[in-house]
Amino acid sequence: MALRTRILKLSNLRCVTQQASRLRAMSTQSTQTSPKEGPATATEEMKPGQTHFGFQVVAEEEKTKKVHEVFETVAEKYDLMNDVMSMGIHRMWKDIFMCRLAPQPETKLLDMAGGTGDIAFRYIKYLQNLGPSQGTHSSVTVCDINQAMLDVGKQRAQKLGYTPESCGVEINWKCADAERLDLPDDSYTAYTIAFGIRNCTHIDKVLEEAYRVLTPGGRFMCLEFSQLPNDTLQWVYDQYSFQVIPVLGQLFAGQWKPYQYLVESIRQFPNQEKFKSMIEDAGFRQVTYENLTFGTCAIHSGFKI
Ligand SMILES: C[S@@+](CC[C@H](N)C(=O)[O-])C[C@H]1O[C@@H](n2cnc3c(N)ncnc32)[C@H](O)[C@@H]1O
Repeated sequence: MALRTRILKLSNLRCVTQQASRLRAMSTQSTQTSPKEGPATATEEMKPGQTHFGFQVVAEEEKTKKVHEVFETVAEKYDLMNDVMSMGIHRMWKDIFMCRLAPQPETKLLDMAGGTGDIAFRYIKYLQNLGPSQGTHSSVTVCDINQAMLDVGKQRAQKLGYTPESCGVEINWKCADAERLDLPDDSYTAYTIAFGIRNCTHIDKVLEEAYRVLTPGGRFMCLEFSQLPNDTLQWVYDQYSFQVIPVLGQLFAGQWKPYQYLVESIRQFPNQEKFKSMIEDAGFRQVTYENLTFGTCAIHSGFKI
């Protein structure tokens, strides 16, 4: 019986591998690959009103629609896939991110592109660890453009037993676009965005809105995939990203394309220095970044002064 199950599993895996080869062949037809530099970024000229969706050049409205579809499709498996793809390392990155934010009892946090609540739950835990009733005046608003992601987050909060009475932190869930927020000026003391900003169509508008809603003295923090400073490491990382991640997506979530988009969007995102300048251009001061895991991702920070 055990042997039969194993044979079935192996034949399933063979089907997935065959499908992987077919899909990889299809995807390379639309992707320009340079053997020296590894998987290249899209080089196609962009016209006004166009942007990137992974390596594809699409109309701006189309990107927003496609990103929405991606996260609607993956919402239920999102947390599982994060663990599978990063071998659990994303948990450590998010823990470090929260330690760097070091929220205080009076912190009013807007967690943008907050998805299924990973950053919000770390924020609550951090405040709880400060001591009893340390979170009493704190609040977190988890904001995301995708209701399906927020619904998973709300279910998680319920399972964790997080109510304002039990955890001392007010949690709000808000479905909205980071590029146009119906939130008042100067209303949050901290703004976080983890693995969200590269999915937005206009990064400059997201940064502008972040600046607007923060109180003077408020802090902007972004955790995002980045570029490795060493060619060999980047090559190894590209091999893993392009050859393994979509296959894992197919195996564990029955989806290939969203995970291909994920790795392509990482490659398209500006490097640490470029993104730092963009944050400065939005008006933030004391802008810094810290590489995590050799620059696989980076924590960016800036203040509204
Ligand atoms: C990779 S997930 C990150 C979720 C969460 N922050 C985390 O670290 O696990 C990216 C999230 O960005 C959201 N998103 C994409 N575009 C957005 C936009 N314009 N405004 C707000 N959220 C957006 C997606 O719906 C998705 O939930």
